[in-house]
Amino acid sequence: MRKTYTCGIIGPGKIARKFAEALQLTGNVQLGAVASRDNNKAKQFAETFKCPKIYDSYEALMQDPDIDIIYIATPHAFHCEQTILCLQHKKAVLCEKPMALNATQVSKMIQASKDNQCFLMEALWTRFLPWLQAVMEIINKGMIGEVKYVRADFGFKAEYRPEGRLFDTKLGGGSLLDIGIYPLFLCQQILGKPKHIIASGNIDKRGADISCHTVLQYENGGAGIITAMLDCDTPQTAEIAGTEGMIRIPSRWHRVSGFEWRRIGEDWQTITLPALTNGFEFQVAEVIRCLDNNVIESPLLPHVFSLQLSETMDEIRKQTGVFYSQAGESSSLIN
Ligand SMILES: NC(=O)c1ccc[n+]([C@@H]2O[C@H](COP(=O)([O-])OP(=O)(O)OC[C@H]3O[C@@H](n4cnc5c(N)ncnc54)[C@H](OP(=O)(O)O)[C@@H]3O)[C@@H](O)[C@H]2O)c1
Repeated sequence: MRKTYTCGIIGPGKIARKFAEALQLTGNVQLGAVASRDNNKAKQFAETFKCPKIYDSYEALMQDPDIDIIYIATPHAFHCEQTILCLQHKKAVLCEKPMALNATQVSKMIQASKDNQCFLMEALWTRFLPWLQAVMEIINKGMIGEVKYVRADFGFKAEYRPEGRLFDTKLGGGSLLDIGIYPLFLCQQILGKPKHIIASGNIDKRGADISCHTVLQYENGGAGIITAMLDCDTPQTAEIAGTEGMIRIPSRWHRVSGFEWRRIGEDWQTITLPALTNGFEFQVAEVIRCLDNNVIESPLLPHVFSLQLSETMDEIRKQTGVFYSQAGESSSLIN
């Protein structure tokens, strides 16, 4: 009989609610505990999601012997330290994106996963959605030829709250790490690691990138073009072009349930998949599959993928002048 894993959540904010719903949609996993710095908030969350235990400290949850997996849903600035602590407590970790503030932190997290022989994965849920599997099948079968171009944007007009996690660099704020990571993920998934990067950003007076635009150049002569904006709505579409065809993904491309593709000179074909409801259940199922197989990283989203993504974001920030002092960065170091 397959094991049912018990999951704990730390940081019951906005995204943790969506994750808790996804647990209810996935087999072989149950919500076992939630930890918040605010006891009332933990109580409310536990009531809503029928969670049997609450903790008023994150470390107390990490010490709970009944917990197998911990989902880290705090702002980016805390991902590294909290992930390493969880791994040291021998818990499998699903850590929200971005994995951490920079590649140095991501390397330390990966090392902790190896040292403790405990599973670690970045919660880049788009990687596991059916539309991306279908797109990768078209690409891997050579149906659009050699891919030379990926363009994707992710922008929305966010309320400007300087102390909020989107804008406050103390919490890891900025458009690149929060939403630019999605188009960057798509480029890396399809074209790999870029050989050259040209980036520009609009930086506010507190040091966060309100928007960020990047051109990525690849060994095969291909290019990726990505945009992240926190000050206006953008189309949130994506296109992928190869030497023999093209794929276009409608709005909001990172979570669609269908797309169109065609070979050059032929008619567009529509791929329609079952409508997405929550969407996080696919990444949860991947965690369960990996734990069943006793592996410490996902073959679909391996540690090195998160590390390379982080290295690319470091280079983009170096060029735009965004730095996170709490992660040991300074303007002189990064520029
Ligand atoms: N995968 C996705 O689609 C997606 C979407 C949105 C966000 N995210 C990621 O999820 C993470 C959290 O985002 P969110 O939108 O859920 O944030 P949020 O609503 O602000 O919640 C973050 C939680 O972290 C905890 N926290 C701990 N220290 C904190 C501090 N110093 N300041 C603020 N909160 C602190 C808080 O929980 P307690 O006070 O209760 O302990 C808070 O509820 C981010 O890394 C973000 O990139 C992912």
